[in-house]
Amino acid sequence: MAESMKGLKRSHRCTEVSSELIGSEVTVMGWVQKSRNKGGIIFVDLRDRSGILQIIFEEANVGSEKYAKAEKLRSEFVIAVTGKVAGRAGAVNENIATGDIEIIASDIRILSEAETPPFPIEENSKTKEELRLKYRYLDLRRPDLQKNIMLRSKVATLTRAFLSEEGFLEIETPTLCKSTPEGARDYLVPSRVHPGTFYALPQSPQIYKQLLMCSGYDRYFQIARCYRDEDLRADRQPEFTQIDMELSFVDVDDVIDVNERLLAKLFKETIGVDVELPIQRMTYKEAMERFGSDKPDLRFGMELKDITDVVKDCEFVVFKGAIENGGSVRGINAKGQGAMPRKKIDALVDFAKGYGAKGLAYIALQEDGSVKSSFAKFMTEDEMNNIIAAMEGEAGDLLLFAADKNKLVYDVLGALRVELANQLGLLDKNEYRFVWITEFPLLEWNEDLGRYQAMHHPFTMPMEEDLKYIESDPGRVRAKAYDIVLNGNEIGGGSVRIHQNDIQEKMFKALGFTMEKAYEQFGFLLNAFKYGVPPHAGLAYGLDRLTMLMAKEDSIRDVIAFPKIKDASCLMSEAPNIVDEKQLEELGIRIIANEVEE
Ligand code: AMO
Ligand code: AMP
Repeated sequence: MAESMKGLKRSHRCTEVSSELIGSEVTVMGWVQKSRNKGGIIFVDLRDRSGILQIIFEEANVGSEKYAKAEKLRSEFVIAVTGKVAGRAGAVNENIATGDIEIIASDIRILSEAETPPFPIEENSKTKEELRLKYRYLDLRRPDLQKNIMLRSKVATLTRAFLSEEGFLEIETPTLCKSTPEGARDYLVPSRVHPGTFYALPQSPQIYKQLLMCSGYDRYFQIARCYRDEDLRADRQPEFTQIDMELSFVDVDDVIDVNERLLAKLFKETIGVDVELPIQRMTYKEAMERFGSDKPDLRFGMELKDITDVVKDCEFVVFKGAIENGGSVRGINAKGQGAMPRKKIDALVDFAKGYGAKGLAYIALQEDGSVKSSFAKFMTEDEMNNIIAAMEGEAGDLLLFAADKNKLVYDVLGALRVELANQLGLLDKNEYRFVWITEFPLLEWNEDLGRYQAMHHPFTMPMEEDLKYIESDPGRVRAKAYDIVLNGNEIGGGSVRIHQNDIQEKMFKALGFTMEKAYEQFGFLLNAFKYGVPPHAGLAYGLDRLTMLMAKEDSIRDVIAFPKIKDASCLMSEAPNIVDEKQLEELGIRIIANEVEE
């Protein structure tokens, strides 16, 4: 039977008890990790969020009520124990923080009994993630997840402290908003009071934080929940959290400066990592040309090389055709991988095809000086030697090439570079390489829509020197936008915003919006700008991604208390789910899919 807390008070968490307290009495509470009855003496490992502490029920107690209770203990029972702290005679356990002490129990209460959990609560669980997510409340008891969740809390606390110190105000913005579909798909919420109308959950607080600048709050931040109905991956969730900020009377360097100091503080005070300031900056163009990605992982080399000029006169149709179509031929040198078995190379070709490549050409330079290649037969010996020289190929290297439109070549080789680094164990999770990516294109062409789309969002300021192209050659205009990238992950991004009406109008025109349509969607922002708007800029981090990298995890699910899975459902609560007919009726909503099924 479960006992109450009456008259009891916890004095310490498990690992707050240390050898300094030897001889004093403490009261600890938590879950039974393990209980061993050694015939006369019972050892209990007590667990709370701080860690594990050993409790002992001595032989002298045999026959007492408390000993009887201790005999009943099983995994995950919740107990309170009062006792004296004692040094461990001889048997020090180096593996736990409290390994040199134990508690000699003088009293115990069983606060809650527990059924046998569906999987063991232990570090580095081997249990399938699906089962763990179904019982997330048990999974969250595991020390590794508890460490992550506590780390996340610390990041949030430090962020609040730092930004407040820097004069930022924490202001909440609505989560029932107007739908302004530009970017990802919105999650919609039907209105009962206004049948047939919908709120949208915010994809970010973007418009509101710009309005706050119009209202004079000057420096704003929020730890904000955002919602995007997009295809999920390991680093994406349908709802996620941003550390969101906006500043008035600033330019790019001001935003970068305060954020570099924030990052340095966060990394130092959570995981003891020194971030060297200033953080390196790289233009989008350089990042694409050298790494095939706008979020380059700088922990390793294997940079892309452009061999278009070297092969432009060759007879190999794959290369020739790509170049004639305005594309390029580029390669990477996988150092020391020349002996890679054919099967593994074929797997890399398939990997490249997964990114849209039509193939992947290779040269495997053997240690004995011979060459294995998928396209040597189309080349002269001179041409082959020129390619190898351009790739700085040496005996034992594997050279891989993609030929296609530039964007595709970048995508394929950029992804291949990371895949190879992964396979070759070049990615050290203890190394943190930051880089700012700057000078993004303002617009990107969307084939499906047949028009330009804002690469960041429609309020992003073009670079002054490129403004002259916005009507004649929109694709050429660079933006005052920046991303902060860590180890190949985009952990944050932002921009300077447009605060001049004439530029905003040109931007909407480039996006194929009439001003009428622009007002329909963003009227409340555009109107606000008529009444005095300060120059402003901002940035938002993905808190989940940031914490994931700090925790050295591979998935943001491991740093979110209650995450969703790939199909955006929650295995524990079974959301989303059907609702009562009555609820739907009130909302004036009828489900069409069901009618079709019937
Ligand atoms: P952006 O869309 O780049 O910018 O988002 C900012 C950061 O949020 C994280 N992020 C995500 N994390 C998890 N799951 C997702 N589905 C997801 N989508 C984005 C990324 C990203 O860098 N309003 C602008 C910011 C600004 O301009 O100030 C914005 O939302 O780490
Ligand atoms: P094929 O003549 O089609 O057999 O191609 C010869 C070699 O070129 C094979 O190794 C293909 O994988 C490779 N290849 C085909 N298309 C491309 C491409 N777009 N870029 C790079 N290599 C390619």
